[in-house]
Amino acid sequence: MIQLVYISKAKPNLNKSDIDAILKEAIPFNKQHEITGTLMLNSGIFMQLLEGDPLSIDFLLEKKIKKSTKHQHITVLFKRETNKRIFSEWNMSFLQLDEFDLKIINKIMAWNTQSLTKKEINPDEILNLLEGFKHKAKDKA
Ligand SMILES: Cc1cc2nc3c(=O)[nH]c(=O)nc-3n(C[C@H](O)[C@H](O)[C@H](O)COP(=O)(O)O)c2cc1C
Repeated sequence: MIQLVYISKAKPNLNKSDIDAILKEAIPFNKQHEITGTLMLNSGIFMQLLEGDPLSIDFLLEKKIKKSTKHQHITVLFKRETNKRIFSEWNMSFLQLDEFDLKIINKIMAWNTQSLTKKEINPDEILNLLEGFKHKAKDKA
């Protein structure tokens, strides 16, 4: 099983019904393919954790997520093997955060503009951040 985290930039006029549409399609698809995770939105930036079988995650990312017009500049932060899910109870939880962990987001943005190298992104740091927000998760499937 793998865990993959990416960030992307939401389209400028993204609204509540766009989010509803994503989740309405994502939850049953993910359930069917045993994919779990969380999707966060803050200041027009999405961050999504996907957990599941490598082939299912690959299909989801390449054929669905990357093709969506609801966002752009999809950047995979890391992809790694694991035997334990963090969001095992959610086929896709959604978190609209008022305040993101600025330290982390700044780090990610800096990395994204190439001032940091890929290996300086610490997966544990990102996963700890996401896990810390788990209690706020909605849309339990
Ligand atoms: C940020 C984001 C996250 C998504 N996550 C999932 C997901 O977890 N599972 C899924 O089946 N589709 C996911 N999708 C794809 C949507 O369900 C849908 O296929 C896509 O948004 C349709 O393309 P459109 O937005 O251009 O109409 C996601 C899309 C976006 C923009």
